[in-house]
Amino acid sequence: MKNKIIALLVMLLPISTWAQDATATKGFWDDPINHPMTPFYVLMTLVGIVTILVFVVAIMLLQVLNTFVERSAREKASAMGVAYVPEPSWWTKLDRKLTNAVPLEKEATIVLDHNYDGIKELDNHLPPWWKWLFYGTIAWSVVYLVVYHITDSVPLQEQEYANEIALADEQIRKTRAAEPVAAIDEAALAYTADADLISKGAAVYKNNCASCHKDKGEGSIGPNLTDDYWLHGGSIQNIFATIKNGVPEKGMIAWNAILKPEEIRDVSFFIMSLKGSNPPNAKAPQGPIWKEEVKTEVVKTDSVKVQASL
Ligand code: HEC
Repeated sequence: MKNKIIALLVMLLPISTWAQDATATKGFWDDPINHPMTPFYVLMTLVGIVTILVFVVAIMLLQVLNTFVERSAREKASAMGVAYVPEPSWWTKLDRKLTNAVPLEKEATIVLDHNYDGIKELDNHLPPWWKWLFYGTIAWSVVYLVVYHITDSVPLQEQEYANEIALADEQIRKTRAAEPVAAIDEAALAYTADADLISKGAAVYKNNCASCHKDKGEGSIGPNLTDDYWLHGGSIQNIFATIKNGVPEKGMIAWNAILKPEEIRDVSFFIMSLKGSNPPNAKAPQGPIWKEEVKTEVVKTDSVKVQASL
């Protein structure tokens, strides 16, 4: 029996190393079927399953054996004319060891000598399982104190959190750096009434812009975006550049710090689509009227200015 347990533990060992391995080398889960270690893992799993089966069969055999032993002891007792007293099972023995309970028949030995209207009290032992658990927590507190507060060898939760945030920030930075940020800019932008992009832009607008420009672009803190009057030009290039670089001194931030280039494009398209929509409660016009004929010129100066500032 003991050997069987040891054998089982030895067999299970590779399975636990396998679990560690899988998390340590990320590559395994990317393509488990073609991973070079797969046959080994499969083999180890099978060995593990077979071991468990052997273990189960061994327990069953042991039970059968017990039945025979008990029967022969019973026969022996009746042959000798004495009453058969069964051996306590290992479970009963373990239970006694763990609880150290005084058996019912011997209760009289631990009864305390006070008596409240017939209510008596027993002076039971603290169960050893509980006592050892308690001592364990004391030992653990010492380990904890040394590891976390004296040697500082493992970070505390707060530090752990800060570390994870730092790691995530670094990952964001790397992802952003890998993205072609300048792929979409005002220089090469042309407006098309692409319903898909406009609806994406509407979502960006609702989340970021409606607080100042209102839901329908009618304007409030920020100007009306639906009329023909523009402070910074009404071409798609002008609008893109205004959103991207902002007008910080007037209260509109540079959105390129928050929005991705494609989001700025989408929201610019959305604003273009609002042109002439005449929403109710529109804010009075601000800036000069936008004329198509001056468009090319303004675009040129604007994009030169923007490119210089890039
Ligand atoms: C905190 C308020 C605020 C938010 C939020 C805001 N804006 Fe503005 N926006 C302004 C103000 C104020 C102006 C006017 C700047 C000026 O007077 O030059 C402006 C101007 C503009 C203009 C130029 C209008 C013109 O007449 O030339 C555009 C285009 C614009 N905003 C788009 C957006 C978009 C798109 C967003 C969301 C991504 C946004 N704004 C978010 C306040 C805001």
